[in-house]
Amino acid sequence: MNSLNIGGLKARLPIIQGGMGVGISLSGLASAVANEGGIGVISAVGIGLNEPNYSNNFRDANRTALIKEIRKAKAKTKGIIGINIMLALTDFDEILNIGINEKIDVVFMGAGLPLKIPSIISQQKFENTKTKFVPKVSSAKAAKLIFQYWSNKYQRVPDAVVVEGPKSGGHQGFKKKDLNDPNINIFNLIKETIPEIDKFEQQYGIEIPIIAAGGIYTGKDIFEIMQAGAKGVKMGTRFVTTDECDAAMSFKKNYLSCKKEDITIIDSPVGLPGRVIRNNFVDQILNGAKKPIKCPWKCLKTCDYKEVPFCIAKALINSAKGYFSEGFSFAGTNAYLADKIQTVKETFSELILEYDTLTYMKTIEKSLQFSNKSVA
Ligand SMILES: Cc1cc2nc3c(=O)[nH]c(=O)nc-3n(C[C@H](O)[C@H](O)[C@H](O)COP(=O)(O)O)c2cc1C
Repeated sequence: MNSLNIGGLKARLPIIQGGMGVGISLSGLASAVANEGGIGVISAVGIGLNEPNYSNNFRDANRTALIKEIRKAKAKTKGIIGINIMLALTDFDEILNIGINEKIDVVFMGAGLPLKIPSIISQQKFENTKTKFVPKVSSAKAAKLIFQYWSNKYQRVPDAVVVEGPKSGGHQGFKKKDLNDPNINIFNLIKETIPEIDKFEQQYGIEIPIIAAGGIYTGKDIFEIMQAGAKGVKMGTRFVTTDECDAAMSFKKNYLSCKKEDITIIDSPVGLPGRVIRNNFVDQILNGAKKPIKCPWKCLKTCDYKEVPFCIAKALINSAKGYFSEGFSFAGTNAYLADKIQTVKETFSELILEYDTLTYMKTIEKSLQFSNKSVA
């Protein structure tokens, strides 16, 4: 596999571990991935869940926990560590500030359009930061909008872009009705995004890698999407069933025991569809149950806690701790493929072996075609 260059930050392997909240990808998983040559990502979403003051001062708890997790990850690896922040979070600016202040290598941003990031960075006096900024989008149109906005207003562009298709775990950047549209798939999304980003590569004379996400699970998936023009992949679901993943064992076991038909879509209070593994709690939500909410946080800009049927933060905190009577596991469409828990090292070895085998077969195929032509 080729290396991945994000604004001069070079990962030996083009594999980014998707940030997974709440409490699923912390320093344990992120550092293990970074040690294998990929990019490990700590999810900042609800990261303060284990801090004693989380219920009465979630902002302070998130700040404390994020600093701890970044420092713990950096102590365990010399590799590349990122953080993942959802734009819908009410403490987005504070989390960004901590990430940059802690000299995080890269910030991934999803669940919204990160249009004003350069302005926030300059307000926070971080103009000279080495941290890279990477938005996650679900369409070429959204990528174009962000790049054009940054370029026109701030004379710069993001360092890379993640394009996520409709098979991913967690929140979806698509309308529910589009999730099963066969034309909306990661291959078409990558093909549509390439010419949009190409213009900015020409204009700025830089490399801007397009990273594919959503349903990438095997070395074959990586091979195929790289053939379609992606320069890297971001994988979440695949890394849940690793020893180093920071989730409770029962969260990982949900992946091992689920079947394809158990993976379903709910309406999340974030205001987006979310992909989850079905259980009693999910069935209650799907059947219209309302779980009374006394919101101690107002953690999401997009959530009207008096209206939503349940608290997404509480549901995810419960699941991170293994309490599934009032929670669920986010998961991608391929979660049912997991049949064992293995180390991150073993996961990387499998992915690389599958990828290299296909690369080798393709080389042989090409040389056979060439020698057939020469004989003819
Ligand atoms: C359990 C789980 C939790 C996730 N949590 C977040 C999150 O908090 N914020 C976010 O932007 N993306 C989140 N994601 C999405 C991942 O970062 C990544 O984009 C996605 O998993 C890629 O698709 P895949 O799961 O098919 O590999 C989550 C995914 C999973 C599986």
